[in-house]
Amino acid sequence: MTELSSSPLRLLILISGNGSNLQAIVNEILAKKLNAVITKVISDQSDAFGLTRAARAGISTEILTRKNYPDRKTFFQALKEMLLACDCDLIVLAGFMQILPADIVNHFEGKMINIHPSLLPKYRGLHTYQQVLDANDTQHGVSVHFITADLDAGPLIAQAVFAVRPGEDLLSLQSRGQALEHRLLPKVIGWFADKRLQYQQNTVIFDQKTLGTFGLQFSEAELIKN
Ligand code: GAR
Repeated sequence: MTELSSSPLRLLILISGNGSNLQAIVNEILAKKLNAVITKVISDQSDAFGLTRAARAGISTEILTRKNYPDRKTFFQALKEMLLACDCDLIVLAGFMQILPADIVNHFEGKMINIHPSLLPKYRGLHTYQQVLDANDTQHGVSVHFITADLDAGPLIAQAVFAVRPGEDLLSLQSRGQALEHRLLPKVIGWFADKRLQYQQNTVIFDQKTLGTFGLQFSEAELIKN
């Protein structure tokens, strides 16, 4: 991996599906609001729509499907080789639905982030919006965090929080959550590009200060207005 400099931050993005977060990053780069370049998009699903989005944006893509490898170990070995070959500054998991082995996570410690549709540590894994409805939670949100070997865990960088409206349905919750993801993830990447964000031994440093357990907190109004 290269040392961050004032040249564009080199990103590698991992996806499994729609790629709307990838699109949000592409849009910010095109609008020159984010000093970054996407060197490659890797998908573990050959039919991921995110691959089409990447191709439209002229980004190089790779498909790495589990079924083409005899076992989990060789699949992740191949992924690790791709990640190493990419020589990027930051690896972004933008809807990548694989649990990375400790070997990969440890190798790229501090240089790998994930977006997750819940206020972590609540609701790791899948179906987070449904879990919020089932629990009658009054607030929900999305999180960006450094990756550790545990699923959807690792030091939190930032969260965007919103109040669940009375009677709100799944679709509405999802669309509000995704709108926040599309603001929050490029924002966090921008902090890396501007060298405001560092990882040090399981803690997050932002503007030379250690962040608390939940990282930087944003309201829906703050992110959607700005
Ligand atoms: C996003 O909502 C992201 O938070 C979630 O997958 C979705 C991908 O959407 N990630 C996880 O659940 C990770 N545990 P996208 O493909 O449209 O960006």
